[in-house]
Amino acid sequence: MTEALAYTDGAVHVRVPAKINLHLGIGPLREDGYHDLTTVFESISLYDELTATPAAGLTLTIEGEGEDTLPTDRRNLALLAAAELAAYAGVETGAHLHLRKRIPIAGGLAGGSADAAAALIACNELWGASLTPAELDKLAAALGSDVPFCLHGGTALGTGRGEQLHPVLSMGTRHWVVATADGELSTPAVYREVDRLRELGEGGYHDDVDALLAAIRTSDPDAMATALHNDMQPAAVGLMPSLKDTLQAGLDEGALAALVSGSGPTCLFLARDERHAGVLAKRLTLRRVAKAVHVAESPVAGAGVVGG
Ligand code: C5P
Repeated sequence: MTEALAYTDGAVHVRVPAKINLHLGIGPLREDGYHDLTTVFESISLYDELTATPAAGLTLTIEGEGEDTLPTDRRNLALLAAAELAAYAGVETGAHLHLRKRIPIAGGLAGGSADAAAALIACNELWGASLTPAELDKLAAALGSDVPFCLHGGTALGTGRGEQLHPVLSMGTRHWVVATADGELSTPAVYREVDRLRELGEGGYHDDVDALLAAIRTSDPDAMATALHNDMQPAAVGLMPSLKDTLQAGLDEGALAALVSGSGPTCLFLARDERHAGVLAKRLTLRRVAKAVHVAESPVAGAGVVGG
């Protein structure tokens, strides 16, 4: 976890990356409404930035992705995270949070969870609350299943509902093309579709990540391409059939592998190296199968401070 620094204007600036799942295995529906997961998270170089400044009360403004649609009250995970931290630490001063959002919303990249992680780190520093990493992890897990990973970043095996993290030895850098979609997919709706398909006997729980962990240790792109897997993909494609064409377009244009990111609808294409990713991104842009096409690399560090 990177330590935050306070600057002379009293503001704390935090940059937080999106996450992808190199493997997403979905277990059966639990009694608490969640699914057990076997997942391999990785942070990718698409970032949101959050600035926290001292203020009376708790307020939030947003620019960029979702600025016209996202709530700015406690329905927003960033503001809720700040409120939960204040309550836990007994902080009575407030903060104004300003979010510069680049991570597509409802895209399967954990943008909302990333913002919650950024708010925890920023407010812990701004208020001098001195919560330990273990305390931040606990608050993070209560906010959402992906929030603990967003605090830490890098590469990690996730179990439980995704909040239990285990270290993974990772070598080298992976290069991606990230294609966002016109439209959103609600994570609970995609989980419900996974359950519906399972009831029809379609799909199963893939919890073997040995080949993937070996590929991560060597960073061999061909081994990685074979090992990438997402149990949610058939459900996401079922709910948004245009994703099938997007995934196929990437393969036609030379991607080593194509998969839906998390619950989608963002699609990920693995490239051999940085140059290949650039070529692939240009070709996919010309195919007009995505709302926007980005090049990105993984793994990157989790939520941390940017220069003041
Ligand atoms: O944990 P989070 O609030 O991000 O989860 C949002 C929703 O996604 C949950 O309410 C649940 O419907 C679904 N979910 C799940 N199993 C998980 C994680 C999330 O069913 N492991």
